[in-house]
Amino acid sequence: MERKHLLYLFSTDASASPFDINMAYDAGFHAVIPYGNVTEETGTLLIQDIIFSRGPKGAKFTALFIGGNDVDLAETIRAAAIKSMFPPFQVSVMIDPKGAYTTAAALVAKVEKALGGLSGRKAAILGGTGPVGRVAATLCAKNGCEVIVGSRSREAADRLAKGIAEKAGGKIAGAQMGTDDEKLPILKGVDVILATAKAGVEILSRSALEVLPAGKVVADVNAVPPSGVAGLKPEDDLKEIAPGIRGIGALATGVLKYDVEMEMLETIRTSKEFIVLDDGSAMDIARRRLR
Ligand SMILES: NC(=O)c1ccc[n+]([C@@H]2O[C@H](COP(=O)([O-])OP(=O)(O)OC[C@H]3O[C@@H](n4cnc5c(N)ncnc54)[C@H](OP(=O)(O)O)[C@@H]3O)[C@@H](O)[C@H]2O)c1
Repeated sequence: MERKHLLYLFSTDASASPFDINMAYDAGFHAVIPYGNVTEETGTLLIQDIIFSRGPKGAKFTALFIGGNDVDLAETIRAAAIKSMFPPFQVSVMIDPKGAYTTAAALVAKVEKALGGLSGRKAAILGGTGPVGRVAATLCAKNGCEVIVGSRSREAADRLAKGIAEKAGGKIAGAQMGTDDEKLPILKGVDVILATAKAGVEILSRSALEVLPAGKVVADVNAVPPSGVAGLKPEDDLKEIAPGIRGIGALATGVLKYDVEMEMLETIRTSKEFIVLDDGSAMDIARRRLR
């Protein structure tokens, strides 16, 4: 009898994301089994039932996806799940909390290609304290790009920047960037602006955009109208949106994000070896797909 491909989906939220469930079915899983409000303790207990029930052969047809809003908790669950597995009772794992690993990887890979590299560049991240912003900041910092994480709250920005610098290293600072007056002095001095604020929030105004010096790349991930950057359409891909300023819209990044998440899901479904895919893997895939 042919084995069924099963995906267990652990979410830190009450409900698992339908986005990830739909993509998992499209990636060929026969069943996707969601668990909400998963913690380190419940995740560890669930993993034991997952790995032992199908035997070593069945483990190759079983995979785990870790998602949800809480990036730190998702990482804790990942560590606990991996610790509680041992050969040959191991199932492949993918972690993508709130889609932030695949989205941020696609976003950062797009701007890296547009700039011809990130090393020695300077980036500002508007609305940078959410899952997508913090992962984008981490990926930029890891690749030699100096980062300024923006927030309406100075403390939130400073706290996040300190946390990322401790974990990932690199040059990263926080800044209060709630108003145009707070944003402009910083935005004038960077090579790239990433707009990662909450869905439906315009975080970069037309008046601010028009006084920025030429030569910058501005990339937005907000696909819910209005766009995060005034005048930038979701499908724009390096279109000039103000004199000398090129914009990448949410759909241009979203198509790559979709491809990256699909490849990661197909990989954990079909891999005969135990593998763990995360933000670094997402970045490698995004880069390869853009070559
Ligand atoms: N294109 C794609 O494929 C794709 C995939 C996934 C997500 N997304 C998009 O990525 C973006 C970021 O997602 P996320 O989950 O990381 O975001 P989020 O956590 O909902 O929000 C990010 C930050 O936005 C700031 N913010 C909230 N309300 C604001 C307001 N009224 N004015 C200014 N700033 C505000 C907050 O920062 P402070 O409170 O610190 O200021 C918050 O931490 C969203 O637009 C989401 O739809 C796109």
